[in-house]
Amino acid sequence: MNNNKISFPENFLWGAATASYQIEGAWNEDGKGLSIWDTYSHTPGNVKDGDTGDVACDYYHRWPEDIRLMSEIGLGAYRFSVSWPRLLPEGRGAVNPAGLDFYDQLVDGLLAAGITPFVTLYHWDLPQALQAEGGWAARSTAEAFVEYADVLSRHLGDRVKNWITHNEPAVAVIVGNLMGHHAPGIRDDMPTALHVGHHLLLSHGWAVPVLRHNSPGSEVGIALNMSHSVPASPSQADLQASRKEDGFWTRWYLDPLFGRGYPADVLADIIQAGQVKESDIDYVQGGDLQAIAVPLDFIGLNHYTRQVARSQEIPEEDNSPRTVFQPEEDDVHWTEMGWEVYPDGLYHVLGRLHFEYQAPKIYITENGCSFSDGPDGSGRIADQRRTDYLRGYLKAAHRAIQAGVPLAGYFVWSLLDNFEWGHGYSQRFGIIWVDFQSQERKRKDSSFFYSRVIAENGLASE
Ligand code: GCO
Repeated sequence: MNNNKISFPENFLWGAATASYQIEGAWNEDGKGLSIWDTYSHTPGNVKDGDTGDVACDYYHRWPEDIRLMSEIGLGAYRFSVSWPRLLPEGRGAVNPAGLDFYDQLVDGLLAAGITPFVTLYHWDLPQALQAEGGWAARSTAEAFVEYADVLSRHLGDRVKNWITHNEPAVAVIVGNLMGHHAPGIRDDMPTALHVGHHLLLSHGWAVPVLRHNSPGSEVGIALNMSHSVPASPSQADLQASRKEDGFWTRWYLDPLFGRGYPADVLADIIQAGQVKESDIDYVQGGDLQAIAVPLDFIGLNHYTRQVARSQEIPEEDNSPRTVFQPEEDDVHWTEMGWEVYPDGLYHVLGRLHFEYQAPKIYITENGCSFSDGPDGSGRIADQRRTDYLRGYLKAAHRAIQAGVPLAGYFVWSLLDNFEWGHGYSQRFGIIWVDFQSQERKRKDSSFFYSRVIAENGLASE
């Protein structure tokens, strides 16, 4: 390696990520069943500008063109999710042949292009039929998930050798059942949220052996969102705020997955806050925690920014320094989602996953930024802020590798501009521009930057 070039390990995997509801469209085509996101986005007021995923990137019909773009960029891998109700319209039982064909052809197309498929089973689009039975708050949905995992992996397990059971259970739990900003849109219901979280993790633990059995030689993991949580100041109040935020968003999932059970401090926090009673904690049955702690081949890390935790109230007796941390405006950059650009956060989170939790192998399964730069008069898309963001985070990832973190690959979020959940199409994360009227795709400058990174397996000096 010459001294001003950063080189990643040999065989480091370079990919891009997407998710079914955010790109596929064809919401009611070819026998697909309803998902909770179809229901949620069709409910007025839930999504900005009344946007829905009805058409999205029309990927259901345009995926061959998108594979060609993946090849042109030079991707070695592609992470996508399967729409459960496109495969099992009622969530269990009858299989939709057209749904199976779609994913069959997609996987074959990727393999023919020399692109390794990474398949996420659940990226939040639960069959509406299962929501009608209680959704993830019901243990029966965890059982249905195993049936879905069995059907899917029996069919694709000869060709798909990298499986991700769930995407960001914390977001599904908190944003979907406490904040109400994601499907199914439940607000402030902590007992339901805890049941949902447990059944998501339980379904993961039950599905891992099924995937391994149906897909010999495969590697199985889960994708977790982890921000780097820091206190705004060294005051007791802010330290407590950071512990609570890190506990509820991160440790509540990491600890059980790594055999430590649910963190007692977090449970104490929510009981003390009156959000849940001891009697509500009735969802853990014998063997559950052992199932959830099934050893994994890798952890997928979805990382975008850091969280600076500030206590809402300062106890009288707390006279510790409140030198609240305020980054100098001109030193800090923010994406259009309002997320701070803070690459060191990735370095810290990667180190924590490996050194504190002994994660055996890590993929960055999502990292990217929202900037709406579009075509200029010449048609070029000069999204320099995205290139700068990616460069900074890739350097942080490389520092983590040098520190001994077993990072095996990186998937940029996202391949395409797509449906950004409650934000609709107002936030653009793609390295490829999508004109949602014409469905034209256009590579952004950042995609050419990413092509060079892939070709050189590293970063040239700035
Ligand atoms: C997530 C989801 C993606 C988002 C992306 C940008 O991490 O929230 O996995 O579906 O679109 O992260 O918010």
